[in-house]
Amino acid sequence: MLRRLTQGIKQIDRFGVIFRPSVIDLNPEYKSIFGGIATLFLYGSCLAYFCYQIIQWQNNTLLPKITSIQTSQAEKYFYMENFISSFYMRKNYRNDEIDPFDPQNIILQPILSKFSNQQLVESKSFQFNSKSSRYNNSEIILENLELNLNLENTNDNPQIDYILSFGTCIDLFLLEGQKCANQSMVDIYMKQQGHAMLMNNYVKEYNPKSMQVENVKKQSLTMLNNDTTMYFQNQIRISKTTIDQGFLFPSEIIKEFPVDMVLISQSIDTQSFSTIFHRATYLVLAYSLNEIFLR
Ligand SMILES: *[C@@H]1O[C@H](CO)[C@@H](O)[C@H](O)[C@H]1NC(C)=O
Ligand SMILES: *[C@@H]1O[C@H](CO)[C@@H](O)[C@H](O)[C@H]1NC(C)=O
Ligand SMILES: *[C@@H]1O[C@H](CO)[C@@H](O)[C@H](O)[C@H]1NC(C)=O
Repeated sequence: MLRRLTQGIKQIDRFGVIFRPSVIDLNPEYKSIFGGIATLFLYGSCLAYFCYQIIQWQNNTLLPKITSIQTSQAEKYFYMENFISSFYMRKNYRNDEIDPFDPQNIILQPILSKFSNQQLVESKSFQFNSKSSRYNNSEIILENLELNLNLENTNDNPQIDYILSFGTCIDLFLLEGQKCANQSMVDIYMKQQGHAMLMNNYVKEYNPKSMQVENVKKQSLTMLNNDTTMYFQNQIRISKTTIDQGFLFPSEIIKEFPVDMVLISQSIDTQSFSTIFHRATYLVLAYSLNEIFLR
């Protein structure tokens, strides 16, 4: 029995090399028990590792190879789908609390201006009927922007960027169902202190586990004041990511999405933009594509 077993193990030894000695050996056998065990171990671990990979692959826990490097670019077109940013006032739980974005009593009117090679093309307001889930205050949502980067500023391929400004309500820009607040309400609001606004910026990230591009929300708080304009330059960084989800053989997918927003902020005078926007502004945000590109 034991002899049959050791014989069996010897048989599967793949290390025992048969060589032909010059003297004839009556029993030319170089397979050994040790070699058999080593072979068993090697084959067994190969099989176990293969099974392990198959199970990981089936359970989606096998991480794909993701490559991206940073380069700088002079030209790039990108259409920003979905949410880009959203804004709402934080509650201060005072009795005389006023929501400046109440569509029926607008105090800070958001206006989106489009620029082509630094020239103003058009300005428009937008509907803001949704409420923030956290504070039940009106939420301003910025979405669907068409951006173009061209450092050369040529006429056939102009640089396209946007400025979102919040300032004095102008009747001309009101949409259906919107009303500017009356002067007494504006005065009360302007004399109050501590207007805290929450700004959310939405970027994306590839989640290798779910194999999907997911939203990442970055929140920051800005204090608004009646004698200054907070100016933010939001530079959107695009990533062109190559994802290799192949198990045994390469299988590449290329995805392009915004991965980051570089914020540069500065505080300036409320009249600084009055030649462009013809009103006092309290918050101004510029949106453009960043030259640094991840791919
Ligand atoms: C939210 O505010 C509105 C008035 O602006 C009020 O009618 C409504 O009851 C509020 N909802 C909650 C959940 O507080
Ligand atoms: C201004 O508007 C508020 C809210 O709609 C209202 O309560 C108030 O009476 C108005 N004041 C004047 C002077 O019209
Ligand atoms: C700005 O707010 C201060 C108090 O914080 C107030 O004294 C001043 O009158 C306000 N200015 C305007 C233009 O409302």
